[in-house]
Amino acid sequence: MTETEIGTRQLRHWQTALKDHWAIDGDMSRLDGEYDLNFLATGDRDEGYVLKVMRPDCESWLVDMQVKAFEHIALRDPLLPCPQVIKSGDGMSLLTLPDETGQKRLVWLLNRLPGRCYANAAPKSDALIHEVGRVLGGFASALDDFQHTGLDRDFKWDLMRGDWISDKLDCITNPARRQIIDDICAGFSSMKPILTKLPKQAVHNDANDYNIMVTGDLSEPRQVSGLIDLGDMCTAPRVCDLAIAAAYIVLDHDTPEAALAALVAGYHEVYPLTPAEVDLIWPLLRMRLAVSVVNSTLMAVQNPDDPYVTISQASAWRFLEDNTLHRGLLNARLRAACGLPVVEGADRVLDWLGQERGNFAPLMGQGIADAPLGSLSVENSTWPQNPFHLPLEEAARVGAEFEDKGRIWLGYYHEPRLIYAEPAFRKGPWKASDRRTVHLAVDVFTHAGTPMFAPLRGEVFVAEYRSGHLDYGGVIILRHETAGGDPFYTLYGHLDPEFLDRLKPGQMVEQGEEFCRLGDPGMNGGWAPHVHFQLALTTEGIEADWPGVGDPDEMYLWRAVCPNPAALLNLPDEKVRYFPTEKQGVLADRKAHFGGNLSLTYDDPLMLVRGWKHHLFDEWGRPYLDAYNNVPHVGHAHPRIQAVAADQLKRINSNTRYLHPAQTAFAEKILSKLPKKFEVCFFVNSGSEANELALRLARAHTGAKGMVTPDHGYHGNTTGAICISAYKFNKPGGVGQADWVELVEVADDYRGSYRRDDPDRAQKYADLVDPAIAALHRKGHGLAGFIAETFPSVGGQIIPPKGYLAAVYEKIRAAGGVCIADEVQTGLGRLGEFYFGFEHQGALPDIVVMGKPIGNGHPLGVLVTTREIAQSFDNGIEFFSTFGGSTLSCRIGKEVLDIVDDEGLQENARVMGGRLLSGLQALQKKYACVVDVRGMGLFLGVELIHPDGTEATAICSYVKNRMRDHRILIGSEGPKDNILKIRTPLTIEAEDVDMITTTLDQVLAEVEHPVSA
Ligand SMILES: Cc1ncc(COP(=O)(O)O)c(C=O)c1O
Repeated sequence: MTETEIGTRQLRHWQTALKDHWAIDGDMSRLDGEYDLNFLATGDRDEGYVLKVMRPDCESWLVDMQVKAFEHIALRDPLLPCPQVIKSGDGMSLLTLPDETGQKRLVWLLNRLPGRCYANAAPKSDALIHEVGRVLGGFASALDDFQHTGLDRDFKWDLMRGDWISDKLDCITNPARRQIIDDICAGFSSMKPILTKLPKQAVHNDANDYNIMVTGDLSEPRQVSGLIDLGDMCTAPRVCDLAIAAAYIVLDHDTPEAALAALVAGYHEVYPLTPAEVDLIWPLLRMRLAVSVVNSTLMAVQNPDDPYVTISQASAWRFLEDNTLHRGLLNARLRAACGLPVVEGADRVLDWLGQERGNFAPLMGQGIADAPLGSLSVENSTWPQNPFHLPLEEAARVGAEFEDKGRIWLGYYHEPRLIYAEPAFRKGPWKASDRRTVHLAVDVFTHAGTPMFAPLRGEVFVAEYRSGHLDYGGVIILRHETAGGDPFYTLYGHLDPEFLDRLKPGQMVEQGEEFCRLGDPGMNGGWAPHVHFQLALTTEGIEADWPGVGDPDEMYLWRAVCPNPAALLNLPDEKVRYFPTEKQGVLADRKAHFGGNLSLTYDDPLMLVRGWKHHLFDEWGRPYLDAYNNVPHVGHAHPRIQAVAADQLKRINSNTRYLHPAQTAFAEKILSKLPKKFEVCFFVNSGSEANELALRLARAHTGAKGMVTPDHGYHGNTTGAICISAYKFNKPGGVGQADWVELVEVADDYRGSYRRDDPDRAQKYADLVDPAIAALHRKGHGLAGFIAETFPSVGGQIIPPKGYLAAVYEKIRAAGGVCIADEVQTGLGRLGEFYFGFEHQGALPDIVVMGKPIGNGHPLGVLVTTREIAQSFDNGIEFFSTFGGSTLSCRIGKEVLDIVDDEGLQENARVMGGRLLSGLQALQKKYACVVDVRGMGLFLGVELIHPDGTEATAICSYVKNRMRDHRILIGSEGPKDNILKIRTPLTIEAEDVDMITTTLDQVLAEVEHPVSA
């Protein structure tokens, strides 16, 4: 018999057994299994069943233990996600049945868990890992009273017996690696006495990433559907079980410490851990990895030809060889994540400080209870102007607005600030990488030279001069003890280093003793004179180099290590603690006060409070790369726009009923960018208003009403503009198509009727205008004109074939119509090679509409046309737009156009757009779902589809949200919303382009295996 025949016979045999004993009928297929046979059977359940046929020599206690354990868990905690043992028709959980050769086998049936294994689940978010922790804790809690004789086994995967590897270290030939394992074993021996005192219980013992099942695709929430495979169960302290799961969770994770914290916090929520247990997780995790690498090294010796054995070790070695994580700080982190005291005694220190509040010697020699607070927060302050660079002149004046001769003012604890602008505060390679922003101290600002007095007796731990740019200058750390002998520390930064001769580590400073002075910017790191006063309950892992600010996403740790020091200043905690605006509160208010169709981007909406060039900042100072917003054309918060606006508002902001040179200067600047035929400008407040006006002009000029426009276009939110915006009127609930509007197919040569392989496609798309004009005539409408987004944006970032618009315009003009180019998206240099999109088309419109970018955020729309059309409109009725063409708008509009020229932004769009396009094209080669990359300059689209050719809308939404998780804002467009839209401000730089392509690569890899991999 061939192998296939044996397989078929086997399958049939077990299919019959399943039917006979469990009355389950259905298809069956073989699943992977190292020693035993596992079959997937369909049947009445969507997910099906797993029939487990154990190897012939399998010991019955091992199977019995697993079956009973699953049944025990189901009884103890019926809601816990866990496979269920399915009893046979005669009520048996475990059967002995002959296989197809007559050999006796132990056989049992489980329901199959939905989803995929954790190893193949992406993204491995903290939320998912937390959920894994909860389920693991649930399992352990449910198993705490499970008894079985098989649990007391002597085998290599019992971590308590992991020191079997000590005798085998010779198999590791690399001396450095051998030393690592040796050290881990030594650490294990020293903690064994503690471990052996811990209560033991039944544990899963192998929650590796292939034994955790996860449901949820793309944007669905990820959920753990259960843990499988109890084959390694034994009794052990429960922390061993947690450490084993942890060992797999941290491997190849970008932020293993955060992953570990999420896992442990989840576990602790369900099955609370003691601080002593938490402290064992890290060394046990490393011990498990040590057992793993030794075991697989031994196996490699036995199976020299099996490359898998060594490959599987690689990530474990990478992790063990990386010693950047500090055990003490990690313990503090895990304890903090569980809400336990960060170090032994931390809770007592906090209590004591609270009790002693009011009794400490005044730091500044006088009470500061009445001192005002000055906020330097992201929301309240504009320090620094450039959140990526704080010049020394600015640093020396930070908070100048709160100064009042010699007066003391305070800076908040827990306040997110952008003044920590140097790359040293960044945690990744990009400007938009995680960044430390949240102040962990209280600042006391007053004049340089002010003496300071020790709040309480302390021993000098550090007394140094840190000369680095924007560092502390003179810095002192004192070590104190509470009355009960618990230690804690205080730090004083930005000092005059005069103390260096007097204060040495080990020396005592008495309560109330004058021990240092505020430095001036020449000696205090460069800052406006103040002391940075910080408290720490441990120096584990931070030693003398305390972070003065923390990552907003890690405040659970830093608030616990460096709590509010207000008590030591004899101040109430609330006085100095800062709270950023609560995003959820704003969201609730928004829902209360605004219409439901005012949409929000992202599943988890963003609150943005600052911007700079092509970066944005939320209320916590988290930076985002803005690859979506085309309105801030010359960059967010451009200093020249600020200056022009402030200057004009100091003077006058009036309307076009009065003369002002700013109006004509703006008009002349715009006209200088357009072909000679355009002579007349109209200034309005928005793109919608400009398009509405364009309709009136076209009608006034032609005396007709009918309009032809491409399908799926958008021209604005006013009644008239909606009627020519199929993107809106054709949506369910839309107003529907007016009889004076005719649609033509979008000239999309990727997906439309005429594709890129057709050399005549431009003309063929243009020819579609003829029947549209005829249809209008049939309905009794003359032709007023044709309007199109020059490059359809909401239609999917489409670049029509060259010559399309020129051919359309010819037909429209021949039929007496006016040609309107909506350049709201494409105009003003975004396309790089062209200032306006119609230039690319070799077309000359009669009306050009501009909006969005022309005001860089200020509400401004512009319509430009010929003298002849303007005259047709000038029929005696006044045209007036109250704010259109206000003095302020004209100054801002002209400044925007000047900046594009002065800063070479059109050229930048060309160069950066080219770089981005080729980066995206490289991704197209790598991922099958990326089928088209198109665009020009910084107007780009990436079309995503499924293998069957249908639009990958859900993937697109997933990618957009994941890019946001990685701090990049992009959009999505197209009739099926399957096209990623990238339109950055024109200021974008090479580094940012690379961040977009690198990150998109990572995110796409979560939905699809790269072609080349
Ligand atoms: C092509 C186009 N035209 C007109 C408008 C309307 O502009 P506004 O929102 O300023 O009224 C938009 C807005 O998205 C647009 O994309």
